[in-house]
Amino acid sequence: MKSFVNERSKNLKPSGIRKFFDIVSEMKDAISLGVGEPDFITPWHIRNAAIKSIQRGYTQYTGNRGLPALRELISRYMAERFSAEYPAEHIIVTVGASEGIDLVLRAVCEPGDEILVPDPGYVSYLPCVLLSGGTPVPVRCVQENGFILTPEALETAITPKTKALVLAYPNNPTGGIMTREQLEKIVPVIEKHDLLVISDEIYAELTYGSRHVSAAALPGMKERTVVISGFSKAFAMTGWRIGFLCSPPEIDAAALKIHQYTLMCAPSAAQYAALEGLKDGFTDNFAVVESMREEYDRRRRFVTDFFNANGLPCFEPRGAFYAYPSVEKTGLTGEQFANDLLRAEKVAAVPGDAFGEAGKYHVRCSYATSMVNLDTATERIAHFVKNLGK
Ligand SMILES: Cc1ncc(COP(=O)(O)O)c(C=O)c1O
Repeated sequence: MKSFVNERSKNLKPSGIRKFFDIVSEMKDAISLGVGEPDFITPWHIRNAAIKSIQRGYTQYTGNRGLPALRELISRYMAERFSAEYPAEHIIVTVGASEGIDLVLRAVCEPGDEILVPDPGYVSYLPCVLLSGGTPVPVRCVQENGFILTPEALETAITPKTKALVLAYPNNPTGGIMTREQLEKIVPVIEKHDLLVISDEIYAELTYGSRHVSAAALPGMKERTVVISGFSKAFAMTGWRIGFLCSPPEIDAAALKIHQYTLMCAPSAAQYAALEGLKDGFTDNFAVVESMREEYDRRRRFVTDFFNANGLPCFEPRGAFYAYPSVEKTGLTGEQFANDLLRAEKVAAVPGDAFGEAGKYHVRCSYATSMVNLDTATERIAHFVKNLGK
């Protein structure tokens, strides 16, 4: 029989994160620092809202865009918390931030369009650009600058074919964030070249020391910015598959058509749960999210100090829940380090090159796992590093 699979799909590389996840799930006593997912269970009042919606029989499709009450709350939440003002009519409730990334890229990419993607950056940007028929162009973000996107790096990557820039702060895998001043410096370059900004702000609630600044909050930027966000990380709701997309009108209309024909709507019980979760967003303390954030912060300091004290220089992450130490001094690549560590000590970290070529000598360790796990994992990593070359 001939092969039925198209070249595009054949040429996609499997996710470097999933590969390790699968190995670890079969390994006894292994500790995974591999997967970027909160170890917390979705707060009870949020789970309860979904249960109630099912008990009341709200089990049908919702409107394609999502529940009006949820979109109204998202609109208010984005405006009040992040000064990103999108009306409920230009918000689509999506199946996770993942669908948002796919939707916007499919709505904008023409063959030959170049889309700038951060390197290092989240694993799905590059394949989603390829699947949309665009050409991904990595833009290096380096540790010396705190992994921010500089105007110089941006200018160097732009060609007449560049259409959009994926901006991804707080960043997975580096933990880098961009301040208002740093964002202001890239705005003239974005405007000069008339680029669309696709801003993945899924970790917006998880910053340490300073509040997240949305790209859409800068003067003149909302009109050329699509904000992708959701509930997976801050609300510990990964399995619910619920997120949202805030777009300028033209992109919103195109994305909605794709969403209508592919997903119809996000799961209804998950929408009722998200509605309940967001109600907290307007209180000063934002209690549940805040308490999880504080716990990540404690772990963040523990893990960063550990790496720096054990010969693996590590940038201090300012957002998300990942440490991204360099393993170059060990003489190993990130891939070798992660493979050997897993085999010798049963600790899973993700090789940095899963997030782009810039990560060749890095590994990504998620600290979204218990302190007990982190304690044991760091002991094992210290043992592994000490014994290298013996
Ligand atoms: C930067 C980034 N964007 C998007 C996603 C996908 O989020 P969701 O679970 O909402 O689809 C992730 C998940 O790890 C992520 O790290």
